Amino acid sequence: MEEKKHIYPIFDRMLDRRDKEELLGQHSVMIWFTGLSGSGKSTIAIALERELHKRGLLCRILDGDNIRSGINNNLGFTETDRVENIRRIAEVSKLFLDSGIITIAAFISPNNDIREMAAEIIGKDDFLEIFVSTPLAECEKRDVKGLYAKARRGEIQNFTGISAPFETPCNPALSLDTSELSLEESVNRLLELVLPRVCLDVERK
Ligand code: ADX
Repeated sequence: MEEKKHIYPIFDRMLDRRDKEELLGQHSVMIWFTGLSGSGKSTIAIALERELHKRGLLCRILDGDNIRSGINNNLGFTETDRVENIRRIAEVSKLFLDSGIITIAAFISPNNDIREMAAEIIGKDDFLEIFVSTPLAECEKRDVKGLYAKARRGEIQNFTGISAPFETPCNPALSLDTSELSLEESVNRLLELVLPRVCLDVERK
């Protein structure tokens, strides 16, 4: 493209991810939660971050509603906008990852193509897909934000699970159904998966 001709990336002169990881004493990884609205993604993400933080590990959470009120405040919920939402989030996540930070994303990311795109931008080896598999009926019963009721009344269009699809992940690293597991159980399962990957010295943490 014409406008890219005068762009000169300086990545080769910058300190790299290994330098940052060494400084922080940790390995970075992408923990990518996917699941319906109200399934428990943010709650688990927050609890996980606290547990990792307690062990001296630096994390950054990126969460649907926060990102959508800032960097992505010009995007809605059409298929095209959701793709752009996740593309930007994946690019931002990569910046954190390259800074050695354990990056935790909590977005519906409703289909395999979208999650695949995120994994490709971030790098598949660094991408842990966690499916928060709480059933629709339970999410709708909780209806923490009152959005399912609005979607049923037709006041919100393209609402995931009601008037827009959610595709079950093919091969998640972990599935967590918060209608069956306590928050503590979910976090413990995550810690088992994550700690061996992020700790430079497992004994020390
Ligand atoms: S995604 O599909 O593009 O990944 P994202 O996780 O960023 O979605 O945002 C989902 C949040 O936006 C929901 O938890 C809910 O609070 C809000 N929301 C508003 N409208 C919709 C909609 N039509 N479908 C799904 N979520 C919506």
